[in-house]
Amino acid sequence: MELTTHSIDKYANSRFEDSLDKASCLLSSCIYGEKQFAESSGWLRIDNWAGESDLDIIESIAKNIRARDDVFILIGVGGSNNAARAVIEAIGLAPAPKTVYAGNSLSSQAIGQALADCKDRDFSINIIAKNFETLEPGIAFRIFRKALQERYGDMSSGRVVATGTSGSFFESFCKKHGYAFLPFPTDIGGRFSALSNVGLLPMAVAGVNVREVVSGAQDMRARLISDSGETNIAVRYAAARNALYEAGYHVEQLVSFEPKLKWFHKWWVQLFGESEGKGGRGIFPVSAEYPEDLHSIGQFLQDGSPFIIETFLDIIGNGESIVIHDDDKQDGFGYLDNKSLSEINRAAYKATLEAHSERLPCMQLTIPTLDAYNFGQIFYFFQFACYLSAKLLGVNPFDQPGVEKYKRGIYGRLCGI
Ligand code: PA5
Repeated sequence: MELTTHSIDKYANSRFEDSLDKASCLLSSCIYGEKQFAESSGWLRIDNWAGESDLDIIESIAKNIRARDDVFILIGVGGSNNAARAVIEAIGLAPAPKTVYAGNSLSSQAIGQALADCKDRDFSINIIAKNFETLEPGIAFRIFRKALQERYGDMSSGRVVATGTSGSFFESFCKKHGYAFLPFPTDIGGRFSALSNVGLLPMAVAGVNVREVVSGAQDMRARLISDSGETNIAVRYAAARNALYEAGYHVEQLVSFEPKLKWFHKWWVQLFGESEGKGGRGIFPVSAEYPEDLHSIGQFLQDGSPFIIETFLDIIGNGESIVIHDDDKQDGFGYLDNKSLSEINRAAYKATLEAHSERLPCMQLTIPTLDAYNFGQIFYFFQFACYLSAKLLGVNPFDQPGVEKYKRGIYGRLCGI
């Protein structure tokens, strides 16, 4: 995986070098963990929560579910399901139970559809909740427990795996009702939990090789520890964002030419949005799917107000490619004869990057192929770069005080307070 930055210094009014120095100074304290964030930095050391024994348990639970069920209901919201969904929707393997997502919506239609997906099919639940106070997963859990009870009666408890905080009310609730219980890491917040039971169990159920995911993350950690200064890709990325932010670029758009990455985009948006948007500061994260969105916001990027940083995910190898056949009907697309879609996609990618980087600061993260190993690499890379970036910005990456406000508002209305 490589990071290329295009003319950052030009757009950042020569602040890049200065930001690189600042980020380099923060590197060693961050990579080994800082005392002030000890309760939130368990993800830094991957073995803590994705060691050999954790992986054995995950694989054994996943194996049973895969052998038994047609549908796997993944209940969780935000950090409790985004990482798993990013991987499953990109590289989940058949045959596997179909993963159906719940606990992230209050729509009757959406929940009704998830219930319909279970009709006449064997199903089980993984509820993931760090606090088990969040409304959306709480509602879905209640509804799907009832559905399990109606279908399987006394046998239904064997079809629930809960991932929650050890020693919490949720754990006693689950034990009382006979549900399997896996720990949600006590020292990791939701959006940093990809490499733990939270992200890895659902991935394993979908047939993803979670050992490869972990190995990619381990290798990225080793690389970030050994590379210093501007040779370190997390330092470069965080420094570029910082310099550009100070120069007035307050939006970053993550883009790719691979629709399968849609849910990875969402994971990234949450990671940066919730970690950095506080204290009146932060780069607003958005994402786009090209080439489709080139036909909507492409015009703005090329010609509108210049306040956006664009970060391209550049996937080099992406499986087999369809070849456009010869066509003798003179449809005007003769120049495409015998070209592969990957070749055409690559041409579109390069043309877009070239055009946009003439106008905007662009970065490019090159990923050799979309597989489990590389997902591990990009999860760890972005988590760590986000931590560094938030430090440069001067905010706490691990809290989310603003989210609590809306939650209090809902409870007030529903409880008549
Ligand atoms: O990243 C975070 O901390 C949040 O997005 C949480 O994951 C999300 O709010 C869900 O929280 P919980 O698992 O406690 O329901």
